[in-house]
Amino acid sequence: MFGHLPRARLATLPTPLERGPELPGGVRLWMKRDDLTGLGMGGNKARKLEFLCGAAIAQGARSLVTVGAAQSNHCRMTAAAGAVLGLEVHLVLSGDEPHAATGNQLLSRLFGAQLHFTGAEESHWGELEIARESLTDELTEAGAAPYAIPIGGSTATGAAGYAHALAELLDQCDAVGVQPAAIVHTTSSGGTHAGLVAGRAILAARGRAVPEIVAVGVAKGVNMGMPDVADLAADTVELLGGDRSLVDRADVHLDPNWIGDDYAVPTRAGDAAIHWAARHGGWVLDRVYSGKGFAGLVGNAESGRWPAGSNVVFIHTGGMPSLFAPGGAPPER
Ligand SMILES: Cc1ncc(COP(=O)(O)O)c(C=O)c1O
Repeated sequence: MFGHLPRARLATLPTPLERGPELPGGVRLWMKRDDLTGLGMGGNKARKLEFLCGAAIAQGARSLVTVGAAQSNHCRMTAAAGAVLGLEVHLVLSGDEPHAATGNQLLSRLFGAQLHFTGAEESHWGELEIARESLTDELTEAGAAPYAIPIGGSTATGAAGYAHALAELLDQCDAVGVQPAAIVHTTSSGGTHAGLVAGRAILAARGRAVPEIVAVGVAKGVNMGMPDVADLAADTVELLGGDRSLVDRADVHLDPNWIGDDYAVPTRAGDAAIHWAARHGGWVLDRVYSGKGFAGLVGNAESGRWPAGSNVVFIHTGGMPSLFAPGGAPPER
């Protein structure tokens, strides 16, 4: 669809597109099940890792180094990718080593990754990236040939996975005769968002009808301050062989109203969204990412952003393992 970047096949694709119930405000919900990408219990990072690991292997890397919050899904999925591809994996994490690993950490260890605890605060992303850079230098000196992946895998190479995902999703919408008004998803490091914006720009230039992309932010320091999504989208278009001027800043929609106090601090709206999704579709959302993202979709639907009767797709980006970490489960109702 978009050129021939090196790609490691890691995800089970296409992921299902499920028809959901009507939302408050009369909008028809569709759920794109990227929580079912397969790799290491699934989630959005499988799509990015296909291209990141493709690049790593093409460069002759023998190890992967990446970074994230203590319960990072991205780190857990990188650990799984390394296991599949026979690459050693090092994960630089916030916080201190717990007495017993839970949730994503438990899985990362199970997949054979080495966990490096920095003691850093949960969302001190800059400090974590510095630790990732110095570990990468040490591994290079030790001859481990590392391929370094920044937080969330949000480079143009990683984002290419979501340009492809948009094409996959629009084909599925065509197959069921639905033209979505919007595609909504959770954003933190911005790579998923940038990839979707890039795919949208390329497909629109080819004459395809494209919906608006609405990204619901869950991390202040990352999605507000990191490389600008429009720039990353333009880099991604260029990497995929297109003209970077195809990306229009006006097409980047970031809704910052659902973060609450901070990254990984639960919100009432997020918890309510988790319960709603569980009871209406058997979908499992989490308190850090997809619960807040889905709360944003419901909130926008309630306030009439899309006309009654229109179709809106939520890309379920995963996050289920953190439900089984301390504080990960919403209060029962
Ligand atoms: C479950 C889940 N949803 C959404 C995101 C956000 O994706 P991105 O970092 O590409 O913005 C993440 C990132 O870690 C995630 O783990």
